[in-house]
Amino acid sequence: MSDINILAIESSCDETAAAVVRNGRTVLSNVIYSQIDLHTLYGGVVPEIASRKHIEKVNVVIEQALKDAGMELNDVDAIAVTYGPGLVGALLVGVASAKAIAYAAKKPLVGVHHIEGHVSANFLEHPDLEPPFLCLIVSGGHTHLVVVKDYGEYEILGRTQDDAAGEAYDKVARAIGLGYPGGPKIDKVAKEGNPKAIVFPRAKVDDNPYDFSFSGLKSAVLNYLNQAEMKNEPYVQADVAASFQAAVVDVLVDKTIHAAKEYGFKTIALAGGVASNSALRAGMKEACDKRNINLIYPSPIYCTDNAAMIGAAGYYEYIKGTRSGLDLNAVPNLKLGER
Ligand code: KG4
Ligand code: ZN
Repeated sequence: MSDINILAIESSCDETAAAVVRNGRTVLSNVIYSQIDLHTLYGGVVPEIASRKHIEKVNVVIEQALKDAGMELNDVDAIAVTYGPGLVGALLVGVASAKAIAYAAKKPLVGVHHIEGHVSANFLEHPDLEPPFLCLIVSGGHTHLVVVKDYGEYEILGRTQDDAAGEAYDKVARAIGLGYPGGPKIDKVAKEGNPKAIVFPRAKVDDNPYDFSFSGLKSAVLNYLNQAEMKNEPYVQADVAASFQAAVVDVLVDKTIHAAKEYGFKTIALAGGVASNSALRAGMKEACDKRNINLIYPSPIYCTDNAAMIGAAGYYEYIKGTRSGLDLNAVPNLKLGER
């Protein structure tokens, strides 16, 4: 079979990204323009600003991705683009560019689910990884525990009932004065703290053992900070960060391992921005090693938003025959497994 090169575009949140990926596994180029510095000024992503920056950068990153791959538009086999979920105005920029390029260059267009992209990031550096496997998806907007039954086929075992894991990191970081984006900052500060200093709740969810809930934990952290303030006692930022992180990691590890045992999976993959968290990686690794489970996760650059992961997911959709029309629209609340 001859090689299939996919030009992929991602603009669902605050990263404008383009990549060229060969056969769903080999990254020929991966260009990311991150808007994080801009949004940091406002303490979070401002959708209007995100859309405007995407418009400014989308063509630049696409041209750079082709150039880095040593290719012209004519050399690619298809255009893959994230069409949901995400911020509607942000998604529309990538979708409109992809449609224009597909039309002008007469290339097939493949709409890709952003979360399917995060899962597929694992294919980029693990050439032997094949479904089925268990995947814990932890990003700024999503927390899902899924069985990847086949390429593009998922069974959702559990999801968050309120905040996503990354969202909890970002909110707690803001409360302890660390700013946006909170995840990497808590990760770093927590290394100096004692994870046992404060016992924060490990949320149990009654109806489904694989569902998550992080809003109670967030409230517990806020209460702790308020009480410290009322008593005029300074709190130790690193201890709060480490203790909060320990509570998140415990729950993520417990539920994932429980599912692996129940369903008999010997491979667990992590995906999404929080998958680059050092405590989560270490905690999951320790639990997996004890049970002879193989743990894999993408490099940090493929954990947070990027287009290479969209190129990987796009490839498997492409070879299945998935094609999008030029009427492809952004779907801000697209569910996993839906098209
Ligand atoms: O996957 P992603 O780039 O965007 C979404 O699709 O949501 O994830 C971004 C999230 C943010 O909440 C960020 O704080 C979190 O991932 N994150 C981390 C780390 N790096 C990024 N959370 C914990 N530890 C990290 N090292
Ligand atoms: Zn994402």
